[in-house]
Amino acid sequence: MSKGDKKMKGIILSGGTATRLFPLTATTSKQLLPVYNKQMIFYPLNTLIKAGIKDILIIVTPEHSGQYMNLLGAEFKKYGIRIIFEVQKVPRGLADAFIMGEGFIGKDNVTMILGDNIFEDDFSEAIKNFQSGGHVFAKKVSDPERFGVVKFDETGNAVKIVEKPQEWISDYAVTGLYIYDNRVIEAAKNTKPSERGEIEITSLHNYYLERNELKVSTFDGEWLDAGTFDTLLEAGRIVKEKEIYKNFDPLIDAAVEEFNAELKALAKKRLL
Ligand code: G1P
Repeated sequence: MSKGDKKMKGIILSGGTATRLFPLTATTSKQLLPVYNKQMIFYPLNTLIKAGIKDILIIVTPEHSGQYMNLLGAEFKKYGIRIIFEVQKVPRGLADAFIMGEGFIGKDNVTMILGDNIFEDDFSEAIKNFQSGGHVFAKKVSDPERFGVVKFDETGNAVKIVEKPQEWISDYAVTGLYIYDNRVIEAAKNTKPSERGEIEITSLHNYYLERNELKVSTFDGEWLDAGTFDTLLEAGRIVKEKEIYKNFDPLIDAAVEEFNAELKALAKKRLL
């Protein structure tokens, strides 16, 4: 499979009820909560746009679809970025994004990012240079039992990925950024639900790993997910301190500025 005939599409999975963040998430989606000076979703959106992805599907919950459309529906078109939305009524697991996104992905490759994942590193080169198979990104954590974890052999090659291992296998968690070729759609369709009733993204990693076609890269920069009050606060602090909020693609800055100007004009009109 050559890279030439495949485009890279992008999916942001922004579903979930985020009950740990109640009552904040009683009125809006977790991924629309602020992390320092931007809504959380702008950080994963930036990861995709910076890498040159022009077609983006955002999977949202029914209650918040209107809010996402207000924020991201119009502005980006002018900059050549197509953002579309699909509503996920029932969360069935991360791998479901590739089944829901089948029509959108078409014959192309796809990068999926979780809507609450904020990275300090720039993964643009990995996304742009992707050819085929799968590519995931792992980071050393202190609580690997909460994640999909990479098991390495003596020579440091990834041999297996285990979802929430009960016994320690390594400290390397697979983060929420995944690059796959088009076969991921079929692989997702053939995945059986796990004990927690979800079709696991980890099964897809293993599909590629078994074929010797999964690249696992490790990185040291910040990886933030803001699932609790404390980690949300911490995420904002780190984004400010490490100036992650300054790493935005100029296109996003322009779109946000334009959106702000429109809102200001609207507010002024209302006051008159
Ligand atoms: C999910 C994935 C897991 C991954 C994690 C990253 O876990 O199943 O493999 O390491 O995201 O945040 P979940 O948030 O569904 O527990």
